[in-house]
Amino acid sequence: MNKPSISERDSQIIWHPYTPMKLRPSALGIVRGEGVYLYDEQGKAYIDAVSSWWVNLHGHSHPAIAQAIFTQAQNLAHCMFAGLTHEPAVRLAERLLEISPANMRKVFYSDNGSCATEIAVKMALQAFHNRGAPRSTIVVLEGSYHGDTFGAMATSGRGLFTAPFDDKLFTVATIPVPTLDNASASLNALRAVLDTGDVAALMVEPLVQGAAGMQMHDAGVLSQLFHATQSAGAYVIVDEVMTGFGRTGTLFACEQLSAQPDMMCLSKGLTGGTLPLAVTLCSQVLYDAFYSDDVHHAFYHGHSYTANPLACAAALASLDVLLTNKCTQARQHIAAEHAKFASTIAHHPRVQHVRTCGTILAVTIKTVDGNHYLSSERDQIYHYFLNRGILLRPIGNVLYLIPPYCITDEQLHLIYETILNFLSTDSRADLAIV
Ligand SMILES: Cc1ncc(COP(=O)(O)O)c(C=O)c1O
Repeated sequence: MNKPSISERDSQIIWHPYTPMKLRPSALGIVRGEGVYLYDEQGKAYIDAVSSWWVNLHGHSHPAIAQAIFTQAQNLAHCMFAGLTHEPAVRLAERLLEISPANMRKVFYSDNGSCATEIAVKMALQAFHNRGAPRSTIVVLEGSYHGDTFGAMATSGRGLFTAPFDDKLFTVATIPVPTLDNASASLNALRAVLDTGDVAALMVEPLVQGAAGMQMHDAGVLSQLFHATQSAGAYVIVDEVMTGFGRTGTLFACEQLSAQPDMMCLSKGLTGGTLPLAVTLCSQVLYDAFYSDDVHHAFYHGHSYTANPLACAAALASLDVLLTNKCTQARQHIAAEHAKFASTIAHHPRVQHVRTCGTILAVTIKTVDGNHYLSSERDQIYHYFLNRGILLRPIGNVLYLIPPYCITDEQLHLIYETILNFLSTDSRADLAIV
């Protein structure tokens, strides 16, 4: 009898994220990753065009990052982070503060994006509490996504992901996304909430709302939202979990704004896509609200693997690669190629909307059943590309690319060509799942 495959063994016992298990019971068994490629059990190669949920920056199994993790593992794999510290965490904090907006002064570690945003929200609320002038409102953008834990869900758009829990989620104020078309609606809605005097923070995914379907908005209007929020004495939190580390053209999306945030959340690309790690950076003013002789003013939050040394070592190695001229040029090149390709398909009859921001390209495909996460186009797009050796993860009928920066021209153009072929394919036979 043949040995069961990883995929078969998996399907007996594993419950996968974001997966209707009865409808999609089998997961592709991956045995190896190298550069932009993932290899399955049969040895078939797939270009990881979405950087494995937007985490991978420099390709899989990057030798320098692998070496850094190995070296660190031989020295100190982990120690708790209350009352103890270590060189990789301190060095990483120093380096993050060097490259982040000038008013970022302190680094709080955690281990995933949902925690990073939830921590920022807790910090904002507690800062007002500590000062004896509590505020309770968090303002977010329509369609926002900040993660899957309860606090992160509360600050995310209500819908498919949150429906079973909606009555357990704290209320937030939601304002229109700051596109040029929506500028005054967005600003007026924000001003109306700020006028209550109860706003603790505005939290946004700056420039690109990832899970909403790579929806992009305007840097100028967003900057105005930041200024208005800060003038009202509230904090601005940028959730750069997806946009950070060069995805939007600049190192951080908020560099394209005329205002600085008070808090910044980073994860995903922080370790180059190798180990879970997150940080919430904050300003001195925010930190000072906790710096007190009163023990009740401390921030009582932490996780077992906070500032894990292996993850910090991976992040330091990833930053070394990210900050080279070679990597900057590669990012600029991807952005330019994306923009050229977008203009060639902008008027295609099957394209509803194509947009780019830095290394992100997104195409909304026209559908028969409307734009939504459960659109029937999703599976067709996924399998069409998978059959052709390209791993995508469409958000409903939005097909998007957010590739590792090491992708070559040849690989990029193969993906573009496959998109063009997909757009001209109308036979359902061609879309059959193989
Ligand atoms: C903008 C943003 N914030 C937060 C998160 C949550 O991160 P994690 O999946 O690491 O909890 C995500 C994940 O996709 C995200 O895109």
